[in-house]
Amino acid sequence: MNIEHLSDLEALTERAAELFVAIMRQSVEDRGRFLVALSGGNTPKPAYERLARPPYGDSLPWDCALIYFGDERMVPCDSDESNYKMACESLLNHIDIPAWNLHRIHGEDNVSEAARLYDVDLRALAQETGEALPRFDLMLLGIGPDAHTASLFPGTVVLDNTRDLAAGVRLPDTSEGALHATERVTMTYPVLDASRQTLFVVAGDDKAEALSRVEAGDMSAPAARVRPTDGDLLWLVCDT
Ligand code: 6PG
Repeated sequence: MNIEHLSDLEALTERAAELFVAIMRQSVEDRGRFLVALSGGNTPKPAYERLARPPYGDSLPWDCALIYFGDERMVPCDSDESNYKMACESLLNHIDIPAWNLHRIHGEDNVSEAARLYDVDLRALAQETGEALPRFDLMLLGIGPDAHTASLFPGTVVLDNTRDLAAGVRLPDTSEGALHATERVTMTYPVLDASRQTLFVVAGDDKAEALSRVEAGDMSAPAARVRPTDGDLLWLVCDT
């Protein structure tokens, strides 16, 4: 398992931003665009804020970047629980990026309809290159203490969904994820695994057990089941 241990959150943030920029620039040079799926939650927020500041900010080719989301909570996009709102407040509102480059999941809709629409969006992206699956240049992911990633939570049927590119998730009230939203839309494993570069960004000692399960290859840990078919997988971890 390819893992980098960083000394603290600031070092993790800098490293994540540095990798984001390097992958972005290489993708634009190689293919004329940068396909990225942003992670939600709190951990990536400092890295998004870092990307909005010099020397990055509008020096980056945001007009070539297509921004998607690995998952979304089924809440209005102005809710403090919205991954889209977090991304806007930390990054998207502070850079010059065309609105049509942003592909959010419609958290305000019915969960099944939002999943269907996002599935259609992802299939359209794949069809641009004649592929069955979209191939993201960068898939940003986090991990929860229960070892979920995106909204692929333990015990949910979406873990075995290899048919859809995006799917609705309904969590029991006992699930860790229910603290933020009991209904979600998530990319499924086939989309995650088609990525060129997958980057987990992990902070906090509350993730230690989940991380050790992944390192042990515990397939009951959803994050352990992210296995790029033809891409690189790197974990950036700080345990403070
Ligand atoms: C979500 C995220 C989720 C997140 C983990 C870690 O919508 O909740 O996509 O998968 O990455 O829960 O969250 P923190 O970074 O807040 O610990």
